[in-house]
Amino acid sequence: MRLKNYYEDPDILHVGTTKERAYYIPQKPENLPSKMLLNGDWRFYYGEDPEEIPEGFYEKGYPSEEWHTIPVPGCWQNYGYDTHQYVCNYYPFPYRPPYVPKQNPCGAYIREFVLEASSIGKRQYLNFEGVDSCFYVWVNGEFAGYSQVSHSTSEFEITDLVTEGSNTLAVLVLKWCDGSYLEDQDKFRMSGIFRDVYLLERPQNHIQDIFIQAKLDDSLKTGVLEANWESTEGDLEINAVLQASDGNILAEEKVNAGCLRFPVDDPVLWNAEQPRLYTLTLDSGEERIVQQIGFRKIEIIDSVVYLNKVPVKMRGVNHHDSDPVTGFVMDREQVLKDLALMKQHNINAIRTSHYPSSPWFMEMCDQYGFYVLDEADLESHGAAEFYGGSREETYGDVIQNPIFYQAVQDRVRRCVHRDKNRTSVIIWSLGNESGYGVSMEDAGRWVKEFDPDRLLQYEGSIWETGGHKNDTSMLDLYTTMYDSTFDIEKYLNNPDWKKPYMMIEYAHAMGNGPGDLEDYQKIFDGNPRVFGGFVWEWCDHGVYMGTADNGKAKYYYGGDFQEELHDDNFCMDGLVYPDRTPHTGLKELKNVLRPIRAFLKDKENKEVELENKMDFTALEDRLYIHYTVEQDGAVICEKDLYPLNHPAHEKRSYHLDYTVPSSGICTLTLEYKTLKKEDFIEKDTVVGFDQFFLQKGGHKIKTTDSGSIRTEELKHYIYVEGDDFTYRFDKYAGAFDQIICSGCIYTTKPIQYNVWRAPTDNDRLAKLEWQKAGYDRIQACVKETEVKQLENAVQICVSLELAAAHIQPCVEAQVQWNVYADGTISTDIKAERNMEMPFLPRFGIRMFLPKSFSEASYLGYGPMESYLDKHQASRFGRFSAKVKDLHEDYIKPQENGSHYHTYEVSLSNGTGDQIEVYSEDTFSMQVLPYTQEELSAKKHNFELEEHTETVLCLDYKMSGVGSQSCGPELKEEYRLKEERMNYQLMIRFKSLRRK
Ligand code: GAL
Ligand code: MG
Repeated sequence: MRLKNYYEDPDILHVGTTKERAYYIPQKPENLPSKMLLNGDWRFYYGEDPEEIPEGFYEKGYPSEEWHTIPVPGCWQNYGYDTHQYVCNYYPFPYRPPYVPKQNPCGAYIREFVLEASSIGKRQYLNFEGVDSCFYVWVNGEFAGYSQVSHSTSEFEITDLVTEGSNTLAVLVLKWCDGSYLEDQDKFRMSGIFRDVYLLERPQNHIQDIFIQAKLDDSLKTGVLEANWESTEGDLEINAVLQASDGNILAEEKVNAGCLRFPVDDPVLWNAEQPRLYTLTLDSGEERIVQQIGFRKIEIIDSVVYLNKVPVKMRGVNHHDSDPVTGFVMDREQVLKDLALMKQHNINAIRTSHYPSSPWFMEMCDQYGFYVLDEADLESHGAAEFYGGSREETYGDVIQNPIFYQAVQDRVRRCVHRDKNRTSVIIWSLGNESGYGVSMEDAGRWVKEFDPDRLLQYEGSIWETGGHKNDTSMLDLYTTMYDSTFDIEKYLNNPDWKKPYMMIEYAHAMGNGPGDLEDYQKIFDGNPRVFGGFVWEWCDHGVYMGTADNGKAKYYYGGDFQEELHDDNFCMDGLVYPDRTPHTGLKELKNVLRPIRAFLKDKENKEVELENKMDFTALEDRLYIHYTVEQDGAVICEKDLYPLNHPAHEKRSYHLDYTVPSSGICTLTLEYKTLKKEDFIEKDTVVGFDQFFLQKGGHKIKTTDSGSIRTEELKHYIYVEGDDFTYRFDKYAGAFDQIICSGCIYTTKPIQYNVWRAPTDNDRLAKLEWQKAGYDRIQACVKETEVKQLENAVQICVSLELAAAHIQPCVEAQVQWNVYADGTISTDIKAERNMEMPFLPRFGIRMFLPKSFSEASYLGYGPMESYLDKHQASRFGRFSAKVKDLHEDYIKPQENGSHYHTYEVSLSNGTGDQIEVYSEDTFSMQVLPYTQEELSAKKHNFELEEHTETVLCLDYKMSGVGSQSCGPELKEEYRLKEERMNYQLMIRFKSLRRK
């Protein structure tokens, strides 16, 4: 069909839409809904470009019976039309602003709706809460209008187009429009009507836009609720009622003027911990608008952000609307699930990256208590990616282009107008990654003038391009993404930089990580001027493609749809899997954000200091402490402690009551548990914990020295035999390759020296150096082997080097293997790293045990995987698990399941055989059904094949994980980079069948 080309005309953004307004759903008298929801199955016709759409499809009576149907809301790529594409930064089409490809996939939608006779004479407003990317609307064959800005509401008045009885609504959605240059967010590119569509039936004269502000004086003791509105036909008498949260009427007044002021003495304040809301009802007799509003004051005093005079921090996450099945579509249940999970993980803030979420999302945040950074639907990242483009030179090219000036204003204003009555929204954002220029500055000035009571931020303002001199005076916060903690300190130490500092993105949660959450939190908490941050990001974006033969869900990412241009698994960077199963990174974040932090002040006197990290809640109103003392992982004492009189932000000391045994590794663990049920958290739930070592000390292992050992050295092998065991030592491998004890074969492959790990997403740069150094393919090069008879053992001393073909050695080692008469093997590994080569992913040994060794037990940091820089969610203790459950199933397989700070690990086979490994010092342990080679090779978890044996890694150390997939380099202190490495292990074999 032929269309008026609005979609490549940035001068025409909307046709026939009503003036942007605040979001509300009016009610008819008697609480009858004024809203007719038009969601459901619509008839659908897909075309590769508008010309493929039948001319006149929008006419009433057009024969569309043969068409397929598609759910609204929905993204057509999820129903077999068009294809998925995941791109991060690039424009997915040639850079010719404002023009888009001629081949512009589009979808024609048709549905009928019925109006009763009573509706005629009323005004009818058709609302679309989100359509990607632009759309044309017809009602009964008449053109009703055109709109764009995918994540904003478009409202059309169609009063004159409707009739009693059946009406035909037709919509044509185009995949690309000039607005696509401003919607280059990092996401799967999906299209269609992806949010609610509904019709509002309203009286002739009604409130159109309304701005409600709950203002507080400086003492916070006097509040004034102000509302200003416009009505469609002038004078409108409104009966206004303000009610407290318990329903009590606080004020009631009839007003004509379009504004009201209700003073409220001593208002109960809103904050994310205690989201107390008042209800304002505006009733014209024919229609009622009900809005929930909270009193809260957000302000900056001396470079510190205060909410209700309390310095608060954003403990936030970035939230995209994303679901593996429904794509951009998120209904209330899906959102509630996210919010519940966030609350359960101590998160108090959400950045709606990089566009406003559904309008009711913010209402839910008002209700359940989240601080919201509401971001305009604006990103022109691709302006840094064309030929010759860069962040430094051309980042602002699109938004500085005068043809987009109006569109930039439009996008920012739509966001602010729609959500201006939402208490939870405390920060506006002009958008993401669009460079900077006059259009942004003007938009920012408008925001501050229109709504001076909220904060404004825009990270992209740090980029000065196109000869423009940036004015950032209207921005309240200095915001960054992915700064290192060192960069943050640099900012804080510069006396010229006065704005509060906030990270709109940090701790890139891709794959195994983030490893640096605790370090960031320390710097956030330690500096009043840091207003916290938002982890990138909430969920992995994947497309659900059914179930694989092995029963695993198949999630596809960039490239899996044969897209030519894509960004691989960069969309798999969330704290939760696509189905919302938490990653270990989310658990890590939960404990980093725990509402109490304890400090063992006086070990002798058992005195702990507790700091209430909540901003508004006294400890005694929410939490009690359950503490346990463990000896070698066994509980020897547990008690409860109920703090009293412990206000928010305060530190208080408490005496605990326990005795420390004279031996063993002793820990004290304080768990913070809920006193009562909360919206999303059950009573007695552990919301965080602290742990202290009261006593350290590893294991001294005794071995029996009675019994005889025979040895025989041949060319390739050394045989070591006792009464109950036969071991073979492979002189080429520098280690045992056969271990048979009490009739059980423990291994038939050489124990390997190991420096490699399956690269994590965060290793994506480090791995290039590691591969150059040959770490992924080292061989043990034995220089010498010597057998010695000790008093109670046979000792094999090996000197060796580790090197890959054509590469010099990265490690040189002296290894002693002792075999005792009871079959115990000990090893003492002394190694030196080649300091000219990159830091090591890990250093240790690897054993292959029969698959039947499938039950593990360990004394170390668990039950979650734990690393040098990622062990806040795990604690020291004794844990048991099936080997297959020790694997963390990242969608893109990678290193996982290691356990930092381990003293013991044992594996048993279910028929009475057990291998036990101990050390006096700690080591890192990993036992998995997969090899590191398999984890390195496969693109998806559902493709993983278990190894024929159980793989046990016993590492001197495993490097930390960090967050370098997008963030700073792994910190020096988390790298395995020391020159000298030394550790010892005792390996025992036990048989229950042995008498
Ligand atoms: C940021 C961007 C996000 C996302 C992230 C990488 O630069 O704002 O949208 O792309 O990087 O995952
Ligand atoms: Mg981007």
